[in-house]
Amino acid sequence: MTQSFGGRRLRSRDWFDNPDRMDMTALYLERFMNYGITPEELRSGKPIIGIAQSGSDLSPCNRIHIELAKRTRDGIRDAGGIPIEFPVHPIFENCRRPTAALDRNLLYLGLVELLNGYPIDGVVLTTGCDKTTPSQIMAASTVDIPAIVLSGGPMLDGWHEGELVGSGTVIWRSRRKLAAGEIDEEEFLERATGSAPSAGHCNSMGTASTMNAVAEALGLSLTGCAAIPAPYRERGQMAFRTGQRIVEMVRDDVKPSDILTREAFENAVSVVSVIGGSSNAQPHIQAMAAHAGVELETGVWQTHGYDLPLLVNMQPAGEYLGERFHRAGGVPSAMWELLSSGKLHGDCLTCTGKTMAENLDGRESRDREMIRTFDDPLMTNAGFMVLSGNLFDFGILKTSVISEEFRARYLSRPDEEGVFEARAIVFDGSDDYHHRINDPSLQIDEDCILVIRSSGVIGWPGSAEVVNMQPPDALIREGTQWLPTLGDGRQSGTSDSPSILNVSPESAVGGGLSWLRTGDTIRVNLNEGTCNAVVEQAEIDRRQSEEPAPEYPESNTPWEELFREKTGQLGEGGVMDFALKYRGTSRKLPRH
Ligand code: FES
Ligand code: MG
Repeated sequence: MTQSFGGRRLRSRDWFDNPDRMDMTALYLERFMNYGITPEELRSGKPIIGIAQSGSDLSPCNRIHIELAKRTRDGIRDAGGIPIEFPVHPIFENCRRPTAALDRNLLYLGLVELLNGYPIDGVVLTTGCDKTTPSQIMAASTVDIPAIVLSGGPMLDGWHEGELVGSGTVIWRSRRKLAAGEIDEEEFLERATGSAPSAGHCNSMGTASTMNAVAEALGLSLTGCAAIPAPYRERGQMAFRTGQRIVEMVRDDVKPSDILTREAFENAVSVVSVIGGSSNAQPHIQAMAAHAGVELETGVWQTHGYDLPLLVNMQPAGEYLGERFHRAGGVPSAMWELLSSGKLHGDCLTCTGKTMAENLDGRESRDREMIRTFDDPLMTNAGFMVLSGNLFDFGILKTSVISEEFRARYLSRPDEEGVFEARAIVFDGSDDYHHRINDPSLQIDEDCILVIRSSGVIGWPGSAEVVNMQPPDALIREGTQWLPTLGDGRQSGTSDSPSILNVSPESAVGGGLSWLRTGDTIRVNLNEGTCNAVVEQAEIDRRQSEEPAPEYPESNTPWEELFREKTGQLGEGGVMDFALKYRGTSRKLPRH
């Protein structure tokens, strides 16, 4: 007996409609899982909805999903689906060595196998910590079954002695205070723990908040989902409604390929720009687009984001944290500003079944301190700038975190505004940086640019969040909070450092940073979008042929080796190229 749902035969029926096997599979679900699913229920043709569980003790930013999944299951049941919860590879930014960036592509591979290999008709992707969002969206795109994103939400706002302290951002700021002798280690720790008062992901506009906003901007989560703080009542309600909605999406056959269009990705780039989002959104958006089969040139950050204003007043670019952002209207209100200024594609289809413009109707913010208008922004031209030159083909600069002091010092030369030259101090990875940054013989002063290499996809491996290097302690004590920095690694989305980063190609594959030497002059021209070492080509050729290339550590695990073999550069999203051809695997059922 073949059952249909929404007039179609669901893929799970292939597991259950086989007359020889039906009762075996049903028996498995009922008995071995002790799950209460009867053969009759399976015969009735209900869709099987996966809940990709990303929370665990190894993934504490997402642990709220262990509780939320109960509400999600209720929603799925309520709408007539059968929920099946299963774990995905855990990802946690803060403890994972050598870097959690190794895990995005690993979770991706694992989730593709689970979605493809089991009788799953649709899936709820439970997201939170930075890379848990792009990895799952990438997998859902490859398999291309109906999928919806349920964010876990940020922590409550952090406070320390009456001051808002945001995750990550407080660490970078307190490190400078510690180096300047303004606070001791005990206060450093109090400030750090104050920033993490509850369950949830980072409460600043770091990579986690950014990527959950991106999921919503792409049309993959219900309206208003991203910003609801994890402990809020509305978070559970959102889980319930998300569970209901995925069943309807299966009925209507709304797949990632219907939602993830070029226009949706342009919207995401624009949203990241006006919210002062993380520079890590660049490789992640690039990777999601690649897996969705959408061509997105690396210059899209310049063409669809750079000239946008900063509208959301959230740390690190602004003052506030996640709770106020949510109360001010969250992502829909920020998007409403874009839409009403003609800077958003309103006709994109979303997981609600409606267009983005329909979702945003009536979402204008009433908190103008938190979410600004185009006429009264926090900063103009506040998006990401794309740079290139003889040191690299692609690098990105988050302009919304460039402070007034920094602008005045480096970018306001009377003769040529937006241009500066600095003497390079080159470090080979973060150990080298930590060992030598306070070495007086380097004579680091305000005219220097700190450069870190061997920290990219291949060199680290994985690409590390190390580019936001702090100046030497002595310089901080004299009042220099930031030096320009440059590197082939990434930096935390919570950092307020004015860095040129995600530089591709990286030094480990022969990029320009490999021949750069301490003492070389680097010239940055923000008007032209260029960054060049002032070194003659003949000298570059000599160094490349005569001097040894910088070294990087050997692989330590099988996955590190495989990752290095298969993963591309950050500019293109750090994707495994070979995987891109597998888009739409659900259209071909796996053999029995
Ligand atoms: Fe997981 Fe920030 S460390 S969200
Ligand atoms: Mg991070």
